[in-house]
Amino acid sequence: MTDDPDGATPLDPDERHGLRFAHVTTRGELDELEQANIEQGLAWIARRRGGSIFDDRFVRTLHKRLFGDVWAWAGTYRRTEKTIGIDPLHIPVQLRMLLDDARYWAKNSVYRPLEAAARFHHRMVQVHPFPNGNGRHARIAADILLQDAYAHPPVAWSIGFDLQAHHARREAYIAALRAADARDYSPLLAFVGARDS
Ligand SMILES: Nc1ncnc2c1ncn2[C@@H]1O[C@H](COP(=O)(O)OP(=O)(O)OP(=O)(O)O)[C@@H](O)[C@H]1O
Ligand SMILES: [Mg+2]
Repeated sequence: MTDDPDGATPLDPDERHGLRFAHVTTRGELDELEQANIEQGLAWIARRRGGSIFDDRFVRTLHKRLFGDVWAWAGTYRRTEKTIGIDPLHIPVQLRMLLDDARYWAKNSVYRPLEAAARFHHRMVQVHPFPNGNGRHARIAADILLQDAYAHPPVAWSIGFDLQAHHARREAYIAALRAADARDYSPLLAFVGARDS
């Protein structure tokens, strides 16, 4: 399970410990198991009743639904420092602040839908609440925000490609997040197509 794509979070030995499939040895096998779990999670999202994207319990439940068949720690906040993300001690408060801000943005039409989704997504991956799966979770979370709060279609995150693999779209995505880290949101707005919405 080496060879993480650019901008992916390496796992601690402790976190690898939570893998529910003892036989997995390669990144490719793990990707397949995670993808199958994510598809179950997406089906759950489509049929769910209730649960607000502005509620941190729902945000954790969403992570558990996407990754809980593969990782025992899915849906629980990370306890270790990562190269990306804030101090783990600050995750609960910072995440709730983000959700409160996002609720305010929607209620007061502060941003156009895709800009709100881009800002929401970036702040979520900056907090980096979970040991792994933050990118995929936060892309799906942003799409739920768009649908539930703005009645807007999802972001074309990968445009038919697998955003996890190495390719130009992923590079543009990571570069856009880095620009947003430096408070320049224009590449991320371009990436999600917010410029012309
Ligand atoms: N400089 C950065 N600033 C903010 N977020 C970043 C930065 N670099 C990477 N990220 C985010 O972190 C994610 C990687 O974290 P993690 O490995 O927890 O998620 P993942 O779902 O497993 O990743 P992915 O599916 O994108 O490979 C990236 O997908 C991206 O969303
Ligand atoms: Mg990862």
